[in-house]
Amino acid sequence: MQINLDISKAMVIKLDDELPEMSEFKEGVRRAPKRELVLNKEEIGLALKNALRYIPEKWHEKLAPEFLNELLNEGRIYGYRFRPKGNIYGKPVNEYQGNCLAGKAIQVMIDNNLNFDVALYPYELTTYGETGQVCQNWMQYRLIKKYLEALTENQTLVVESGHPIGLFESSPDAPRAILTNGLLVGQYDNQEDWHKAISLGVTNYGQMTAGGWMYIGPQGIVHGTYNTLLNAGRLKFNIADESDLSGYLFVSSGLGGMSGAQGKAVDIANGVGIIAEVDYSRIHTRFNQGWIKKIVKDPVEAFDLAQEYMNKKDSISIGFYGNIVDLLEYAVKKKIKIHLLSDQTSCHVPYEGGYCPQGLTFEERTQILRTDKAKFIKLVNQSLTHHFELIKTLVDRGTYFFDYGNSFMKAIFDAGVKEICKNGENPNDGFVFPSYVEDIMGPLLFDYGYGPFRWVCLSGKHEDLVKTDKAAMNCIGPIGPNRRFQDRDNYFWIKDADKNQLVVGTQARILYQDAVGRISIALKFNEMVRNGEIGPIMLGRDHHDPGGTDSPFRETANIKDGSNVTADMATQCFAGNVARGMTMVTLHNGGGVGIGKAINGGFGLVLDGSEKVDTIIKKAISWDVLGGVARRSWARNENAIETAINHNKENKAGDHITIPYLVNEDLIKKLID
Ligand SMILES: NC(=O)c1ccc[n+]([C@@H]2O[C@H](COP(=O)([O-])OP(=O)(O)OC[C@H]3O[C@@H](n4cnc5c(N)ncnc54)[C@H](O)[C@@H]3O)[C@@H](O)[C@H]2O)c1
Repeated sequence: MQINLDISKAMVIKLDDELPEMSEFKEGVRRAPKRELVLNKEEIGLALKNALRYIPEKWHEKLAPEFLNELLNEGRIYGYRFRPKGNIYGKPVNEYQGNCLAGKAIQVMIDNNLNFDVALYPYELTTYGETGQVCQNWMQYRLIKKYLEALTENQTLVVESGHPIGLFESSPDAPRAILTNGLLVGQYDNQEDWHKAISLGVTNYGQMTAGGWMYIGPQGIVHGTYNTLLNAGRLKFNIADESDLSGYLFVSSGLGGMSGAQGKAVDIANGVGIIAEVDYSRIHTRFNQGWIKKIVKDPVEAFDLAQEYMNKKDSISIGFYGNIVDLLEYAVKKKIKIHLLSDQTSCHVPYEGGYCPQGLTFEERTQILRTDKAKFIKLVNQSLTHHFELIKTLVDRGTYFFDYGNSFMKAIFDAGVKEICKNGENPNDGFVFPSYVEDIMGPLLFDYGYGPFRWVCLSGKHEDLVKTDKAAMNCIGPIGPNRRFQDRDNYFWIKDADKNQLVVGTQARILYQDAVGRISIALKFNEMVRNGEIGPIMLGRDHHDPGGTDSPFRETANIKDGSNVTADMATQCFAGNVARGMTMVTLHNGGGVGIGKAINGGFGLVLDGSEKVDTIIKKAISWDVLGGVARRSWARNENAIETAINHNKENKAGDHITIPYLVNEDLIKKLID
């Protein structure tokens, strides 16, 4: 076609003319299950045309049947042939091609998200959370890399659900990349339209840091889990602020991408953990990393071992190879006392393989997903219903159960259990069990502005990470009587971070911090880069932050003024970060809880040692945290009001937060009763 010649000539950034060889899938690397294909004949044709848009016409005849095959067998067109051979991993930044540091730094982040050791299904570009992808297909991956190599300080790369729409002129003060994932127009923000769009290859599920290119392996959630478990113990079992979880038992499920952090976190908090996992490869990975200390296959053995360690007040993380429902069934039958209980199966997508029903092995689950979806759904519903009954019994006996942000309670409701709802009918008034944000993370961390701040040493040198750990520790400490307990927990966390061997993939670190802490740490790091003490740093955070995410079942679950159905905060957070010149800014639909249930965003900021970056740190990081605190304060959250008052008093920069007047409850009661 003549027009294709013109099109090819009109682009200088495009896929190579050479067709890459199809390479073998490496034995032992996890593969995604088949995704549901909801397209009719015409739509299948459309999906093929959509994928072939990346490819020169001369290869269409060869690739059209290959892509059709992928679509029919995998439910998606991944373009496997375009995946570079071997392992992909975040290399030292200077080994990448590029016209600016940001262009190279972003490539490090993308490649880290696809590392065999880091990613859940590396061949399907899935980083974590069952369906969270870096981009939709390998053609996009190649093209994004080419754009990042070409990117200059005067351009911005725009990526819409994995598709790089192009480079556009901007300015050195603008972000170098702006990403969005899975955003849908309200009327179409539902499962049916979503599935069609993703099968057509026009949208992407970015989870949070998968499509935001800021994932740092399961370490990212170890610190949050450590905080959550410690504070759950303090809240429900009166453990002193300066004490830990020794002698307490935590039971949960999932040793996957994020859930894999649970064993390590309970160990660091000095408690005893049993984590159930149906996929042996996951247990094995966590065991090899030292994140679980023992693998057992029998509930008797699991609970006996746990008791032994609880008696001697020692810590241990036990991986139970089996279904969580079997484990809990045994605990209920034998009246075993479980102190803390949760679940981290991928319940945001239970019917796509995220939740393995009782009675099926992991392998049988994969098989039945392919052959009999209706039966699979029935088994999931039965299993979730029974799972709920077991939890209820344990809670009646004194266990503290909390939902761990995986839509577990919503999945139970969808399985047909109305009793999970506070009003016995629908989730509008919330669920009978608290979410970890409602009870713990929200009031004790988010409302003060603490959240999952993180950094990656772009040099790839471990010694840089050790230097940054020390510098961060000095910024938080020394621990004085006036420090908040959060700072004390964080101080001990960072002091032992290297010893705890948390790194999987790039040399990265997570450290929950508030606005003041983040700014002082970031300025210190930038100074160290300036002085040549360390190489450049990519700074960022999880979207799971005080202002990063609007999600009524999770991050904004402790917003009680009725505004938790709105998504203004996350959107403003994103826009404000763009305006203040963060390097990479992102906004997503979905996140940890599923499409239509959350809007979330994040950022990346390259510390190059410049004065300009000092200015961005002061303005943008302050906004990023305090936008969230302001909204939480406006929702009348006590700790956020305290933080906002202090900020207005102490802030010399130019921020000013609107703080709510509180109304006497009796006045309102008298009027409405
Ligand atoms: N709490 C948070 O902050 C947070 C953050 C990110 C994601 N999430 C959510 O947590 C969930 C887990 O995330 P992930 O990245 O670990 O996902 P994942 O899919 O990598 O891991 C889940 C694991 O659960 C196992 N599993 C499924 N059903 C099981 C069963 N019945 N018994 C035992 N094991 C079972 C699976 O084999 C899998 O390994 C997701 O829904 C995700 O969205 C929570």
